Amino acid sequence: MIVVELGRADADAAIALWEAAGLTRPWNPPRADFDRAVAGPASAVLGIRDGGALVATAMVGEDGHRGWLYYLAVDPARRREGLGRALVAAAEAWIAARGGVKAQLMVRGDNADAAAFYERLGYDVQDTVVLGRRLDG
Ligand SMILES: CC(C)(COP(=O)(O)OP(=O)(O)OC[C@H]1O[C@@H](n2cnc3c(N)ncnc32)[C@H](O)[C@@H]1OP(=O)(O)O)[C@@H](O)C(=O)NCCC(=O)NCCS
Repeated sequence: MIVVELGRADADAAIALWEAAGLTRPWNPPRADFDRAVAGPASAVLGIRDGGALVATAMVGEDGHRGWLYYLAVDPARRREGLGRALVAAAEAWIAARGGVKAQLMVRGDNADAAAFYERLGYDVQDTVVLGRRLDG
């Protein structure tokens, strides 16, 4: 399974995958999220292709203290084949290569499947409440 770093030309395919995986929300324009993540050195979108088709993605970023995962999506027809595990491993390696010692992520409260997947990979629920405030309006 070869994990590659995606570029701007992959945006449409990645967004189609995010939509199929139910990850997009109206208040987070996916194109802007994708373009921003592939533009700078502190973030990337990783992907796995099969026969030219993008079948899995994960966005990864580091904030100078921790590494974060976002937009982990596997093609609904290709789940339970190890693609998600491979992408998380690649994202962890990406973070570690930049000096990060911790990977973390947010799972929406109603996404029990994702929580079960991450727990299987050794992640545990942190005793932390995430607070947020929008800065764009
Ligand atoms: C979550 C997701 C990325 C998992 O991808 P996947 O390729 O099917 O996962 P893998 O095949 O790599 O599974 C890795 C391990 O997790 C387990 N697992 C996968 N999905 C699981 C689930 N829904 N419940 C419990 N365990 C699960 C697998 O059995 C496997 O365990 P094993 O290797 O010890 O046998 C995929 O279901 C998905 O795209 N979901 C929709 C998008 C989403 O919710 N993303 C996360 C946002 S926070």
